[in-house]
Amino acid sequence: MLNIWEGKLIVVGITGSIAAYKAVDLVRRLVERGARVRVLMTAAAERFISPVTLRELSRAPVVTDLFAPETAGDVITHVQLGLEAAAFVVAPASADMIGKMANGLADDPVSTTYLVTRAPVIIAPAMNSNMYTHPAVQANIARLRSLGCIFVGPEEGRLASGHRGPGRFSETEKILAAVEQALREREERRGGPAGGAPVGGTAAVAPWAGRKVLVTAGGTREPLDPVRFIGNRSSGKMGLAVAAEALRRGAQVTVVMGTVDEAVKERFLAAARAASPAVVEVERAQEMLRVVMDSGLDQDVVVMAAAVADFRPKTYSVEKIKRVRSGSGTGGGVSGGDGAGSGHGVDGGDPGRQETLVVELVPNPDILATLGRAKVERGMPKPILVGFAAESGDLVSRAREKLARKPGLDLLVANDVRQPGSGFGSDTNAVTVLYPDGRVEPWPLMTKDEVARKLCDLIQDRF
Ligand code: PMT
Repeated sequence: MLNIWEGKLIVVGITGSIAAYKAVDLVRRLVERGARVRVLMTAAAERFISPVTLRELSRAPVVTDLFAPETAGDVITHVQLGLEAAAFVVAPASADMIGKMANGLADDPVSTTYLVTRAPVIIAPAMNSNMYTHPAVQANIARLRSLGCIFVGPEEGRLASGHRGPGRFSETEKILAAVEQALREREERRGGPAGGAPVGGTAAVAPWAGRKVLVTAGGTREPLDPVRFIGNRSSGKMGLAVAAEALRRGAQVTVVMGTVDEAVKERFLAAARAASPAVVEVERAQEMLRVVMDSGLDQDVVVMAAAVADFRPKTYSVEKIKRVRSGSGTGGGVSGGDGAGSGHGVDGGDPGRQETLVVELVPNPDILATLGRAKVERGMPKPILVGFAAESGDLVSRAREKLARKPGLDLLVANDVRQPGSGFGSDTNAVTVLYPDGRVEPWPLMTKDEVARKLCDLIQDRF
């Protein structure tokens, strides 16, 4: 059987914890398995253990300082190691390092490499149990998990301080098992030998090379007047996670981006820069329809994760709609829109009292159904069409109805938007996948990145 470790570059970051000495065993065992190992150490780690030991075991220079003699003349070592890594293991990870990683700080070789790498990141924390259970540390861990980091431990037990509690560094075997699992999953995803693929991959290891993928992400805004709109809570996380995964697999990706959370958008664009996705920003459902119908049928895959408004105001007021008191006239200045007459009205009431504003809504086109119909009419299996369904109860039967109503769908991913940690805005999602042949597959709660990976695996099965 193929040795999954052979020749793989495993970068090990050691940080300031009494458990730093246990990293010696980890490095030794990685080398024994056939991996190429490079060690990075923080200044605090050096207080516990000498880099000389690790240099001898790893048979390579240890990076201790971004400007140290080992890196002089090769100032991008940490960048290079991050890019080439097949896995990045932070063991032991101190509370300080977890905090830095969760907040994007980069002032030492370990935290800097974390930001550079796109390899799986495995973190084995070790610290005092009060530190570990502190809400600030727990929030940092939750954030890193949501970004796809894999945590091993810590374990409950006797700590260096003599106290008992959670915070003990995991056994070497357990960390090795997590790294091995991450390498295998990475290899499977990439459909070839694992190396260090940033978002965008390389043609040699990119199973989606040459394939065109369109993803809709975010919400739509249906304007009522120059300052008001009907919108929804979509952050864009789910759709952009799918787009990032398609880029990672080497696809040529177009993102039709509705309204999204700015930080989410920045993170996506920063990670995807090298792969240059086409990003078309839209606001209204009708704009999204136009973009999707312009190029949808040319795609190999279309994933519609956007939350599209089902209705829009019948008319648009070119002036801000004013508060109205009875007896003072409507004052709404309603004009434009669909040309179907005024959609806003003032609903009677007592003189001198604030009146109710009635906004008439008209249905928006169903973009997914429109594209699906065009696909069926053309009689081609392409594009593979994936819809999402936001449900708030009776998930399976409602999603089934949607699958039946929308022609040409290959997969429907339904999420219960009322379930905590699922649906709008969260970093995680609990989805149920529905297949046209009637199969229904509930997936456990996982990060949106993981949902995207599993979904792309299902799509890849259909190529
Ligand atoms: O962006 P996040 O904060 O990460 O949140 C993710 C999400 C909850 C938005 C996402 O997981 C999700 O469920 N997206 C679909 C939301 C939605 O509009 O669901 P729906 O059941 O109303 O629509 C079903 C499908 O038809 C969707 O693929 C939708 O894009 C599409 N649709 C809907 C209405 C419409 N007028 N045109 C459409 O194409």
